[in-house]
Amino acid sequence: MLDNFGELKRTHSCGALRGEHVGQSVTLMGWVARRRDFGPLTFFDLRDRDGITQGVFNEETAPAAHARAKEVRGEYVIAVTGEVVERDAAQRNPKIATGDVEVQAREILILNDARTPPFQFEVTSSDGLASEDLRLKYRYLDLRRPQLQANLRLRHRAVAEIRRFMDEQTFTEIETPILIKSTPEGARDYVVPSRLHHGKFYALPQSPQLFKQLCMIAGLDKYYQIARCFRDEDLRADRQPEFTQLDLEMSFATPEQVYALLEGLLARVFKLIGVELPLPFPRLTYAEAMRRYGSDKPDLRFEMELQDLASAVEGTDFAPFAAALASGGEVKGITVRGGGAALSRKALDELQEHAKRYGAGALAWIKLGDEATSSLLKALGEDAVKRVAQAAGAENGDAVLIVAGKSKTVAASLGALRNEVARREKLIPANTYAPLWVTEFPMFEFNDEDGRYYPMHHPFTSPLDEDLPLFERAVEGGETELLKGMRAKAYDAVMNGSEIGGGSIRIHRRDVQRLVFKALGMTEEKARERFGFFLDALEYGTPPHGGIAFGIERLVMLLAGTENIRDVMAFPKTASAADLMIDAPGAIDPQQLDELHIGIAKQ
Ligand code: AMO
Repeated sequence: MLDNFGELKRTHSCGALRGEHVGQSVTLMGWVARRRDFGPLTFFDLRDRDGITQGVFNEETAPAAHARAKEVRGEYVIAVTGEVVERDAAQRNPKIATGDVEVQAREILILNDARTPPFQFEVTSSDGLASEDLRLKYRYLDLRRPQLQANLRLRHRAVAEIRRFMDEQTFTEIETPILIKSTPEGARDYVVPSRLHHGKFYALPQSPQLFKQLCMIAGLDKYYQIARCFRDEDLRADRQPEFTQLDLEMSFATPEQVYALLEGLLARVFKLIGVELPLPFPRLTYAEAMRRYGSDKPDLRFEMELQDLASAVEGTDFAPFAAALASGGEVKGITVRGGGAALSRKALDELQEHAKRYGAGALAWIKLGDEATSSLLKALGEDAVKRVAQAAGAENGDAVLIVAGKSKTVAASLGALRNEVARREKLIPANTYAPLWVTEFPMFEFNDEDGRYYPMHHPFTSPLDEDLPLFERAVEGGETELLKGMRAKAYDAVMNGSEIGGGSIRIHRRDVQRLVFKALGMTEEKARERFGFFLDALEYGTPPHGGIAFGIERLVMLLAGTENIRDVMAFPKTASAADLMIDAPGAIDPQQLDELHIGIAKQ
C-alpha cells in the first residue's frame, strides 16, 4: 500500500546534511539506493540529485516505521522524517559529503514503488555499466547516475554562462524558425512533409546560417542563439543528428573581432571548471596545420610534428617513395620518442592497419636502438635509413613511422597515426586544454569522384581579399584549376583535436556571391530557385558581417572530460540515428500518410 503524499515538506536535499545539522529534525525525500537489515536496525541509502544520505530505522525506538521500512525495495520513492545524529567514528564514510551523519528515522512514507531496474546503475566506474543500447532504452534510469546528472548540470551552467556573457556583450538572443527550406551545410536535410501544400516539404535547419545573415541585413547588428540543428549525416563519436550550437553573427566584424569575442567567452566558460585558458589562442593557417600536423584540427597537447623526408629519400630507388615524389606527392614521417623499445612488431602492424584505414598504402618504420632496425633496411641500406631517421629528428631509442603517397593521403594517415600513437603511448597530458584557431581555410574542395568543386565551409563564405583577383580569373577566365588555391575568410576553433567551432566572414556583395555560385557550377536559375530570397536580400544594403557557431555538446564534452557525445545530452540517439526509448523513427498511420499525400514505395 502506498502512502498519500499530502502536505509533507522536504526540509533538506539528500546531499545537504553535515555535522552542523546534528540534533535537527529533518524530512528527506528521494529514491532508495540500498537497504540493509541488521536485526533490529534497518539501514538505507536515500538518493536525490544532490547526493546520498544514510538513514536508520530502529525497531526499539520507532517500531512502526521499522516494520514499514522492511517493505521498501531499491528505487522505491520514500519520504523520511527523523533526527540528524552523528555517526560513530568507525561508521563514518569519507567518500560521501554527508558521511559524518545519518538520519535516525521516526516516520516513513512510501510514495511509490518501483520495478527492479533492468540494469545496475549505481556503479562507480564505467567498467560496470550495462550495454549502451539497454541504457538508452531506459534512458530515464541511466540518467539517475550521478555522473550523467553532473554532466547535464555542467551543460546547464555552461549555457547559462554563455547567455550572461553574450548579454554583457550586447548581443540579442533571437529565435529562428525550425520549419524552413534547405540550408547548405553539406549534410543531408531532415524533411517534414506539408499537409497544406500538396507534395511540398519543409527542411529542418542544418544551422540558422541564412537567417542570422538576414538578421544582419535587417540591422539587428549582433545576433546569437542557442540553436538546435539537424543534420542527416554519418554519425561518429562526436556527432549527433540533432545537436545544439551557440550560433552568433556580428555586423561590421573582422576575424580579429570574432576571435577576441570567442576567446573571452571560452575563457569564462572554462573558469567554471577552474581552468584558466591561455589567451590569445595560437593560430595556424589551414596550410600550416596540414603540413605540420596532417590535420585541420590538430591536437596541440603533444608535439610529434610531421617531418618532410623527401630530400632524405631522394636518389634512393625504393619504388613507393620514388613514385610518390615523381607524381608530386610526399614522403613524410613522425618520430615517436622512446618508440624504439615501446613499439613492438605487433604494435607496428596494428599502426599500419590504422594508417591504411586513412588511405596509406603501407607504413614504413625505423627503430633506432643499439643498431637501426627498419622495414626499409633491405630497400635503402643502413646508411640511407640512418639519414632518413636523422632527417626525422630521431635519436637513439626513438621510432620513425613513414608514409609515402599523395599529399592528401600522407596528411590524413600520418595525422591519424599521430593521434593514435599519442593515445596508445599515453603521451597526452591529463587536464590540459590546447585551443587554437585554424585560419584561411580553402574556399573550395574538389571532389575527384564527380569532378566538381564544393564549398569547404558554406557558399556564403567570403574569399580572402587578396585572392579576389584570382577568383575572377578562375571563374570568368575559365581557369578553374585556380579555385584549388583559393583561400577563405573562414576559421575553426579547435581544442584537444576536436573542432568545437567554425565560422567565417560572409560575402556581403552580390557580385562576389554570383562568382561563388558560378564556381560551384550552379546556374543563376538554380541559385535563384534555392536561395532567391537571400540573393534578393543581399541587394538591399547588406553590411559586411561574419560570425561563428560552436557545438555546445563538443564544448561540454571537453568540460566534462568525456569522449562520448551521448554523455552530455539528456536524450541522445544511437549511431544509426534511432531513439531506442521512444522507438523513433516510427511508422505513421495510413490516414496520416493520406493527409500528407504520401505513399510509401515497396522496398
Ligand atoms: P559548422 O557546420 O562548422 O558551421 O558547425 C559548427 C559547429 O557545430 C558542431 N557540430 C556538431 N556537433 C554535434 N553533432 C553534429 N552532427 C555536428 N555538426 C557540427 C561542431 C562545429 O564546429 N553555419 C555554420 C557556422 C557559421 O559559419 O557561423 C556552421 O554550422 O562543433
